[in-house]
Amino acid sequence: MSDGPFLPIDGARLIGRQRIMDAVGATRGGGVHRLALGPADTEARALLIGWACARGFTVETDEAANLFFTRPGRDPGLLPVAMGSHTDSQPHAGRFDGMTGVLAAFEVLEALEDRNASHEAPVICAVWTSEEGGARFPHGTIGSSLYAATRDKAAMMDQTDNQGIRFAEAVAGFHAAFPDLKRREPGGRFAAFLELHIEQARALQDSGNRIGVVTAIQGLRRYRVSVTGEEAHAGTTPRLHRRDALNGATALIAALRAACLDEADLLRFTVGQMSVLPGSAAVVPGRVEFTIDLRHPERQILDGTTAEFRRLAALGAEGCEAAIEEMSRSDPTVFADPLVERIDAAARRRGYPAMRLVSGANHDAANIARLSGQTGMIFIPCLDGISHNEKETASDADILAGTEVLADTVADLAGLWG
Ligand code: GLV
Ligand code: MN
Ligand code: MN
Repeated sequence: MSDGPFLPIDGARLIGRQRIMDAVGATRGGGVHRLALGPADTEARALLIGWACARGFTVETDEAANLFFTRPGRDPGLLPVAMGSHTDSQPHAGRFDGMTGVLAAFEVLEALEDRNASHEAPVICAVWTSEEGGARFPHGTIGSSLYAATRDKAAMMDQTDNQGIRFAEAVAGFHAAFPDLKRREPGGRFAAFLELHIEQARALQDSGNRIGVVTAIQGLRRYRVSVTGEEAHAGTTPRLHRRDALNGATALIAALRAACLDEADLLRFTVGQMSVLPGSAAVVPGRVEFTIDLRHPERQILDGTTAEFRRLAALGAEGCEAAIEEMSRSDPTVFADPLVERIDAAARRRGYPAMRLVSGANHDAANIARLSGQTGMIFIPCLDGISHNEKETASDADILAGTEVLADTVADLAGLWG
């Protein structure tokens, strides 16, 4: 290890907080179920607000219920250096996706406070609302997209969960639960934004590296496909007279999947939600709706694959008609070199082996990159690359290492070391 400079991190406090959050929304299978702005997510946010108040950080929220914990700098006129991630989870998912990045960012604020550090720029830990798409609300990265105005506000506010609760109502519920929080206007720019996250793949583990320096986030498209056939009696209708929408949907999915078989295995195709209507054992399905989650680092490949999807859907399947509607998109994001270099240098100064990689998962950083001077992500390994799963595991040592790299990079950017 070289001579630094380093911002010391309190590893016991950091890991202690991870263990506290592990219990918030804990599932029997060892994971968490913390749907956005639901009871467990709100409890996690309440804990963070309490810890922030105890340390005297400014606490603010905005129209999307994002949270901002700020430690002021010497020069209030400077744009803040921000870090953060999300506290919500997929259903019955892992303990580290999102939360570890929030706790790492919060620890950096605390580490600055412990030393009564005098940095030039304000430093912010942000908690972005409802990052996990399709978990409670259909869209992902909702809070950061509203903050950065990367999507239509009315469409985001009006989307509903499976109880018919609008995102706007969930936000209002959060604001009502914390009426004393100051309001922050969305869209405020940052000098830089950094997000620490588990890798959710296995490149770090397989290569023996400890830190992933993210150079880009691949693009994402989500589609809703509806297949329409005709309802019929399950006992009396022979094959010849059936237009079974599930039959059509499974045939279409097989064709779509075949269209995604690229040699490099970079194109990701997932059907993760399906509803079969009218949903009776005794009725031949008249309609099936399913989602497609499609990802690739190159926009042209996403466009080309989408055109092929539309061509296949227009052909119909098994006597049924099919229609594809785009639900959301996030174009590939490339991170600026200077910050990539800084993170790499911070990892090297700490003596942690690091590699550069492209993120397969989407992240709030993709939205915040649109209004931040520089944006970067720090990945740490997660066991066998397993994520969106209760078995998701990140080691205490790796969480600490990633937080140290985050701390040094932020201290550097905020002008702690002159
Ligand atoms: C985020 O969790 C994603 O689906 O990439
Ligand atoms: Mn995440
Ligand atoms: Mn996730």
